[in-house]
Amino acid sequence: MSRVSKSAFVCQSCGYVASKWFGQCPGCEAWHTMVEERPQAAMPFIAQEGEHALKLSGIQCDLNGHRIGTDSREMDRVLGGGLVSGGVALIGGEPGIGKSTLLLQILCNLAAHNVSCLYVSGEESLSQIKARATRLHGTNKDSKTLQNTSSSAAIENTTSYAEPWLLSSTRLEHIQEEATRLKPQVMVIDSVQTLICQDISSAPGSVAQVREATFRMVQFAKAMGVSLFLVGHVTKDGAIAGPRLLEHLVDTVLYFEGDRGQSFRILRTVKNRYGPTHEIGVFEMTSGGLQDVDNPSHFFLSERQQHVFGSVITPCLEGTRPILVEIQALVTRSYLVNPRRTSTGFDSNRLAMLLAVCEKYLNLRLYDQDVFINVAGGFRITETAADLGVVMAILSSFKAIPLPSNQVIFGEIGLTGELRPVSQWETRMNEAVRMGFKTCLMPFNPHAKNTTAHAIFVKRIEEAVKACLNKA
Ligand code: TYD
Ligand code: MG
Repeated sequence: MSRVSKSAFVCQSCGYVASKWFGQCPGCEAWHTMVEERPQAAMPFIAQEGEHALKLSGIQCDLNGHRIGTDSREMDRVLGGGLVSGGVALIGGEPGIGKSTLLLQILCNLAAHNVSCLYVSGEESLSQIKARATRLHGTNKDSKTLQNTSSSAAIENTTSYAEPWLLSSTRLEHIQEEATRLKPQVMVIDSVQTLICQDISSAPGSVAQVREATFRMVQFAKAMGVSLFLVGHVTKDGAIAGPRLLEHLVDTVLYFEGDRGQSFRILRTVKNRYGPTHEIGVFEMTSGGLQDVDNPSHFFLSERQQHVFGSVITPCLEGTRPILVEIQALVTRSYLVNPRRTSTGFDSNRLAMLLAVCEKYLNLRLYDQDVFINVAGGFRITETAADLGVVMAILSSFKAIPLPSNQVIFGEIGLTGELRPVSQWETRMNEAVRMGFKTCLMPFNPHAKNTTAHAIFVKRIEEAVKACLNKA
């Protein structure tokens, strides 16, 4: 009896493989994501260097590693000091957040420094890219050379490297051919979801295509020594083409985040084989493209009003970087059976817990009050160090007492109303002092006793209220 090779059903969201079709993926519980895929030959293993094992001392390598600066301090920071030849970085983010803008801008800057660059787009025509580049740099040179948008060869704007090469293509083989011909030092593919390997039957954007195309591009980049950026769209739950599907194939994974309604953007390192992770770059989207934000605290505090109720400044930590942000609270009489608890930029479950702590230990009657929390500027707080700031903002709004305008507040609150020390308190405090704040309300910390005169130490939430509202 001959055995027929069966096709597999693969979830396009998480990569779960099953032998039969499911309406709902057993892996990630997403609906209508299982797609039939024919079995592919196993991924070829390509030995990268030599056949035999070597001793550590027998391996030649440049310990400092040559890096290409991108002309953007924020970008260099997230990459760990610049681009590495043969390094592959995956940039994920929601549509419209600015991935294409950022990469085109970086390629234009690199090209201006005589680094040869190739920008491959499977999503936009060459004239669209040209229009964007013109907006970014306010130049309109070589418009004639970019008229033929269906050209199969990458368009060379000039004979020197002063401008990047542009190519509009989705065929992997074609892209590799052009890259071999042009030998760029830096290359961008926008996006991996549009790539098609001709020998794979699955549809573009399917897990099988995306995974194989990424794998082949990574091998290509290593072989050619080209520094490659891959753009990846995120799925509904925020992962690039399915959780962890591509992340292990590349050297660096960056996420571009931000609220599209706001101008502020964060580029976050999630994985980096060439530098530290949890590093962030801060950018502002302007009419002339993305600008580096050198002083994020200044950026977030620029529109702050002093001596108003319900406003607290808290130092948050993003990666290794302290950023002062303003937490605003509004507490008003509710006319609803279930009063509203709305928070923007702060976890709403955490807010519910903090409100319960306020009711229990501060005797605040909040059951007939609507509570709104907003973190100004579109910043998202992900750490518990902001707990005390949120509580003090709520209290200030509820009691209609402004807090001292030259004070920052931070600390984690436990369920029994105790304040817990937070990590890197010194970094946070130094940032506050640098930005001109005079005092810092923070949890008691035995190590922090005499280090600075600016700290007000408190052990419990009741003490914090006394220290703050009596002084205001
Ligand atoms: P884009 O880079 O196309 O996003 P992505 O590639 O992540 O989908 O960004 C498009 C958005 O950026 C669009 O909403 C307009 C805005 N934008 C500016 O505000 N200023 C600019 O100079 C440019 C080029 C775009
Ligand atoms: Mg884009």
